Order: sequence, then structure tokens, then C-alpha cells
Amino acid sequence: MPSQKFSRKYLTRHKKSAQLWRRASRLTPGGVESNIRHFRPHPFLADYGDGGYIYDVDGNKILDFMMGFGGLFLGHNNRDIALEVIKQLESGSMLGVTSELFIDYLSAVQKAVPSMRKMRLCNSGTEATMHALRTARAYTGRDKIAKAEGAYHGAHDYVLQSLDMDPRMARRNNGYKPVPYGKGIPKAVSETVVIYPYNDIEGTAEALERSDDIAALIVEPVLCGPGVIVPKGNYLKRLRQLTRKRGIVLIFDEVLTGFRLAYGGAQEYYDVRPDMTTFGKIAGGGFPLAGFGGESQIMNMLEPGRGWRNATFHAGTYNGHPIAVAAGLKAVQILGEHPEYYDQVNHLGRQLFSGLQDLADDRRIPAWVEYVGSIGNVYFTTKDEIRNFRDTLSANTRRWWNWFIHCLGNNVLFGIPNTGERAFLCTEHTDEDVEWALEVADNAFAAIAKEAKRNREKVPSVQLQAAGEQAALYGEAMPRA
Ligand SMILES: Cc1ncc(COP(=O)(O)O)c(C=O)c1O
Repeated sequence: MPSQKFSRKYLTRHKKSAQLWRRASRLTPGGVESNIRHFRPHPFLADYGDGGYIYDVDGNKILDFMMGFGGLFLGHNNRDIALEVIKQLESGSMLGVTSELFIDYLSAVQKAVPSMRKMRLCNSGTEATMHALRTARAYTGRDKIAKAEGAYHGAHDYVLQSLDMDPRMARRNNGYKPVPYGKGIPKAVSETVVIYPYNDIEGTAEALERSDDIAALIVEPVLCGPGVIVPKGNYLKRLRQLTRKRGIVLIFDEVLTGFRLAYGGAQEYYDVRPDMTTFGKIAGGGFPLAGFGGESQIMNMLEPGRGWRNATFHAGTYNGHPIAVAAGLKAVQILGEHPEYYDQVNHLGRQLFSGLQDLADDRRIPAWVEYVGSIGNVYFTTKDEIRNFRDTLSANTRRWWNWFIHCLGNNVLFGIPNTGERAFLCTEHTDEDVEWALEVADNAFAAIAKEAKRNREKVPSVQLQAAGEQAALYGEAMPRA
């Protein structure tokens, strides 16, 4: 179990949150809207957000590096977006028919990500990946999909496969068999999924060779399911060649990297053109908006003119919801008008993440900080490279929890303490914020070093990180991403 010593300050500072959370727990499992939001000892409750900060119900001002799970690249409560939303509210919150606003939005997204010749909108990244995969199946006439071990593509059955597993299971599972994540996923669905190892092009090719029925390979260009893992060498370019050779639709899931790594997302940053792309988060300006798109011949599978029975079905009452589209359009326009934001935020990312690495090194705590641009994660591990999901299993999650809750007790939120959560910067963060965060983080590293010394702790090996121990840390579900 995590040391209570590390959470003492957090508990003292969050008495009202605890009270409200207990009330919520009587009404909803875990007292939260989503498994990912649950953590021990209990989550805190927000009052409001502003810029780079969350103000909670206990009166704390918390420096936020979780930033709405990465969606709030322009910070909390962006005034320009809020004004667009108010304007749109006056024209009706829900129209149910197409409007010019929708066309303007699609044009703006296409300008940023030209590989999407045609697009469709939906309300969440989960829907976006589900529909993209279905469209790719329809286009190729094949049934299976390939996903990377550890990758998170949302909460539907097809992609909740080999998302996380305990180290013993991973050791047993040499052949990358799909492992359903959590209860309730039919075996029959797992049988339609092929798992490949990220950052290992030979291993990926081998996995694809095992089946001639693969419609699509979906990839998080930066593997963020297990934290942050940057593509090494020319992995993405080789993935492009490999899928093209085998007639497999390459889908970049840019729900997280879109409009973050660059205006044109990871595909611009790494200069690789996928066949299809999914997007969400930043593209919605803080509102529930997502989408998928790609080459015309693929997206034309959705063409209603084919007839109900021949077209690939895609629908949703709230698709292209005008409030969300107004917010998303403003966010995308702001980013298009301010290319300097990317340099600014990436500079802060470098300062924060390289600073964390230096501090851990100075305190002689084995840790590896993996980052790209404004996304980063601290792994408490002796490894000096993290290439794939299995490498992340070497990390000491208890230490991470202790470090995280120590920082949060001092009002800095480095993600959410479920394996795989990571820190994001936004345009509202400042050099001073980063300096302060590093000070707080250093105190937490110092406390970790002290505890390790007292316990004569070695870096726990993979074997010590049993499933039961992890479940005790995170609650039953152990959600990621
Ligand atoms: C890469 C990726 N794909 C899909 C999703 C699912 O998006 P949503 O939470 O909007 O359903 C996420 C969410 O974190 C994600 O990071």
C-alpha cells in the first residue's frame, strides 16, 4: 500500500472534497463520472478552472498539468472560446440539421490536417476510433484490426484489448495474444484483434503476418496509453511502408496528439501521412467534439447515397453539436493564427520535463522522464530508455503514487495517479509556474529519497509489482489513459 505519510497533507487540505466524494459514492460507482477519475485516498472536487489552474471546493489553487486529460491546450475557461459559445447559444443549442458553421469547422480542421480529405464528426474519441475502424473494415472487406500493446483508443470493446496487464501476465503472453481489459468484453471480440509491439518494426511485421484478414492498423503516434512513449528512429515511417505493402488501412489516432505536437498533429511533426485520422480533445476547445477522416475513397464508404444497407453506418443525435463546433472552430482558428504557441508550450515542456529528470538524477532516484513537446511522464525505473508498454512495467508505481500525492498535497497536479496518466502543458502556463512546479517536485523527490534510505529500499523489480498490489493502489479497475 502507498505510504500514508505522503498523502497526509493532501487529506488535510481536502476535507470538503472527501465529504462530497462520499456523498457522490453513494450515487455513482467510485463517486466519479469515469473510472479514470478515481484515485486513492479520494479525488478532489473542482470549483472552477482558470488559465493553468483549478480552484477546488476546499479553496486550494492547484497548478494543473492534467489540463482536462490534454484537451485544454488553451487553458481553462478561454475567454474567446467562451464568447463564441455564448453567441452560439443564442442561436439554439441543438439544431439537428447541418449549418454553415459545421462546414467552416471541417474546412479549418482540413487546413490543419490535409490528409483528411473527408471527415465525419462525433462526440468522443471513443466513437471516433470505433467508427474509423468500422469504415476501414468496410473499405477493405476484412474483419480484424491491429492495435499496439498498451495503446489506448477509447472505451469500446475492440480497442480495450491488451491495454494493461500485470507483469506476470505480460511475461506469460510472449506471443502478444489479445488480453481483454476488465470484465464484460466478449472473447469473440478479442479474437478479431491482433496485438503488435510498438517501436519494434520487425515484431509488428511478424504480428501482421499472422493474419491475412487485417483491415486496419491503429496507432497512437506517440504511445500515451502507458504514459508517454516517443516513436524511436523511423518507426512511424516504416509502419507506413509496412501497412501500404499489405493493403492495411493505417489509422493515426490523434485524439491526444492532434493540435498538440504541432498544428497538423503528429503526422505533421513526424512527417507521415496516414490513410485515416481520428481527432478530439483540443479540436473541441474543451467541449465534447471529435471526429475521424481520411482519404476520400475510404470515407466514401459512409456515403448515404449507397443506400442504407450498403453504406457504412455512422450516426449520432449530437454529432456536430453547434455549441461544441463553435468552441472547436474558435480553438482551431486561434491555433492557426498563433503558430508561436507551439514553440512557447514546447519550450515549457522542455523546461519542466528535463528539469524533472535533473532533479531525480540529483537525488539519485532511478527515474526516466520521457517526453515530447508538451506531454511527458516520469517513470520510476532503472531503465534509461522506454520503448514500449513492457518497459513501463519496470516502473515502481508505488513510488510514483507517493511522489504524485506529495506534489498534489502541495497543489501541483501531475496528471491523475492511474498508470498511464501523464502531464500536459498549456499556453497559459508560465516560466514561473514551471519553476514552482519543479520546486514542489524536488521536495517530493527528496521525500522519496528519504523514505528509500530509511527502508533501505532497492528499486522494486518487476516481480514485486503484483496485480493485487497495483489494484490496492488504484482501486479495482486500474484504469489507464
Ligand atoms: C489516443 C486516444 N484515443 C482515444 C481516446 C478516447 O477519447 P474519449 O475519452 O474522448 O472517448 C483517448 C482518450 O484519452 C486517447 O487518448
